[in-house]
Amino acid sequence: MPARALLNGEPAEGQALLDRSCQYGDGLFETIAVRSGRPCLWSRHVDRLLSGCDRLGIAAPDPDLLLAEAGELVAGRQTAVLKIVISSGPSQRGYARDPNARVTRWLRCDDQAERPAGTDEPLLAQECRTRLGSQPLLAGIKHLNRLEQVLASRELQTGRQEGILCNQQGRPVEGIACNILLRFDDHYLTPPLRDAGVAGTVRQLVIDKQELLDLPLRIQDTQMDALYRAEGLFMMSSLRGIQPVAKLGEHAYPLTRRPDDLGVLHDACFTFGGEPACAD
Ligand SMILES: Cc1ncc(COP(=O)(O)O)c(C=O)c1O
Repeated sequence: MPARALLNGEPAEGQALLDRSCQYGDGLFETIAVRSGRPCLWSRHVDRLLSGCDRLGIAAPDPDLLLAEAGELVAGRQTAVLKIVISSGPSQRGYARDPNARVTRWLRCDDQAERPAGTDEPLLAQECRTRLGSQPLLAGIKHLNRLEQVLASRELQTGRQEGILCNQQGRPVEGIACNILLRFDDHYLTPPLRDAGVAGTVRQLVIDKQELLDLPLRIQDTQMDALYRAEGLFMMSSLRGIQPVAKLGEHAYPLTRRPDDLGVLHDACFTFGGEPACAD
């Protein structure tokens, strides 16, 4: 007998259900800001995607093909969001992959940003009880298993846009959908991502441009109390750029505007090449 499927009780083709991204989250994704018809921080997104493919053993898509397909979708759009999903392809059942399966590649561009992209409004954040699991094999890549973030999002109180996620030892790692940057008197700090967290394209931009912009940056483990001692807390992601946090719980930060160096990097987040406009 041929396979039969129901979707919400209605007869359906059921082909999508065979895809391993749907069955097991066996794949990767990128969420990319689009400005003036171009995908922002393009090569950083492609680099992370390709490194994720390498780490998961998925045949990597051709970057030129990706750019051509992305270009087709983003053409003519002023402010949009491009999403790329790569999955290891279809398989019938069982965790082992079918060695002959063809990798699946989706691209979708939507004018409607999920959140206001790059707005300057300082965020309201909270601590989350959900903790990130420890898995060095998956740390850094943007794989499709995001249940920790889904659970953490359910915790968000009304009016709070972001949450701080700690690891199993209670050390802060990142936000729900962003990386974090703390500002102290004489330095910035972002936590390492050895066992958990996504190596964000914006976080990497900040790391790569620290010398150019004379940014005293430390990649260092920290504790929750440091978040309350910091002068400022910033959330970094492709859609937000580098956004200040006004409040963490009831704690109000003294610094709720981007200092000039972060402002330059924030603007660079919304360009194709990600090069800061002022280098001196
Ligand atoms: C869990 C998580 N961490 C960090 C980030 C930041 O990554 P990027 O700067 O590439 O947007 C994201 C972005 O969606 C994310 O979902």
